[in-house]
Amino acid sequence: MEKEIRAIVLGAGKGTRMRSNLPKVLHEIFAKPLIGWVLDSINNLPCQNESIVIIGHGAHDVEEYLNHNYKYAKTTLQKEQLGTGHAVAQALPLLHEYRGTVLITCGDTPLITTKTLTKLIKYHHENNSDLTVMTTKFDNPTGYGRILRSATDEVLKIVEEKDASDSVKEIKEVNTGVYCLEWAKIRKAFNELSNNNAQGEYYLTDIVKWARHNQYKVLGYQCEDSDEIYGINSRQNLAIATSIMRKKYLDELMEKGVTIVDPDSTYISPDTSIGMDTTIFPNTYIEGKNKIAKKCKIGPMAHLRGGCEVGEGCKIGNFVELKNAQLAKNTNVCHLSYIGDAEIGNHVNVGAGTIFANYNSITKEKKRSILEDGVSIGSNSVIVAPVHIGEDALIAASSCITKDVEAHALAMSRGHQKEIKNWVKSNKEKK
Ligand code: UD1
Ligand code: CA
Repeated sequence: MEKEIRAIVLGAGKGTRMRSNLPKVLHEIFAKPLIGWVLDSINNLPCQNESIVIIGHGAHDVEEYLNHNYKYAKTTLQKEQLGTGHAVAQALPLLHEYRGTVLITCGDTPLITTKTLTKLIKYHHENNSDLTVMTTKFDNPTGYGRILRSATDEVLKIVEEKDASDSVKEIKEVNTGVYCLEWAKIRKAFNELSNNNAQGEYYLTDIVKWARHNQYKVLGYQCEDSDEIYGINSRQNLAIATSIMRKKYLDELMEKGVTIVDPDSTYISPDTSIGMDTTIFPNTYIEGKNKIAKKCKIGPMAHLRGGCEVGEGCKIGNFVELKNAQLAKNTNVCHLSYIGDAEIGNHVNVGAGTIFANYNSITKEKKRSILEDGVSIGSNSVIVAPVHIGEDALIAASSCITKDVEAHALAMSRGHQKEIKNWVKSNKEKK
């Protein structure tokens, strides 16, 4: 699979059925927008080196997100959403001199995997296809374009639900909206599409008819796992896609030797890796990119929010939240704590109710704190970043730490305890 690939991702549609001010492709699963999931699957293809995202509805927001997170992706604006074929046509100027293979996907199908895209591309190349449509079979194909095949199994055309006769509606094989095509040959189709159909749109699906008419080879590659092309059109779809992604990943983790005590109440982003013999207790929510090593205990009721590294043998207990925190080995944060933007050594004990104050609400800046090996933080302490706490230092319970602490020292910052003899007794007597 050495041939070069460029991808076109369609993301200009409005997503009316989401009933949202947010563009559809920016709706999130595990804190990552739909378009992010699609681009990550594309980006992991070995020979992929450029993606073009067609933006339109909410273009400004989508572009901003892509600029921050996917610098390599180019965007091009589809001013009016005149259909999927019209959307792809917007990429013509950017691919003017390109002669290789193009992969087309939709930005609202977040479950598509690199593995499946790889198989599609392999099939396309091995069969010397000019245009390959990825298809799948659904028991209930309502809403999808139907695949019409010839007696010899070639794809003849794709008929949209709204244009389909009753007999065509019976067909269970559908268009997934993913295509592989030889750009130099098929690109001319985009100047010749018409919008003479039930929706008055320029359909991308019509390139099939065009390619056959022009004697190009059109094939269909059937994707085994129809879940992967599950498209998001509504909030219900979003919840179902989250659930599919979640269950698949939990199964994968269990197969790799991670104990998930209660899969029904456990949420782990597939961007988080977890080592063998780690146990995840119920009601744990892990979003974003994190690395959890082996032999850890996480939860119950723990929340990891991304950018975390949890070393071997650590314990993250109940009502503990971590964000951008790196913990070395055998460190315990067992109860009711927040650790944000911190680097924590080996064998550190963070007492119950410890809070890392990492955010300055005036400057809007976040600062990091460092705790060396063997540090022990007493319960109910506040660590005001940025501070550095040296090896084996001890922080007395209920301290507010605003300055660095030397190795082996005891730091204490709380009022001294006062005792007034017989205070209760004398007050009771007065009454
Ligand atoms: C499309 C296919 C259908 C297929 C289904 C798979 C067409 C005509 N139909 O239907 O055969 O079964 O996908 O999910 O292609 N978009 C734009 N600009 C536009 C219109 C759409 O960028 O002008 C984008 C949308 O943002 C979306 C994608 O294209 O990401 C698909 O559009 P959508 O309207 O959802 O197409 P479907 O009706 O689902
Ligand atoms: Ca769709």
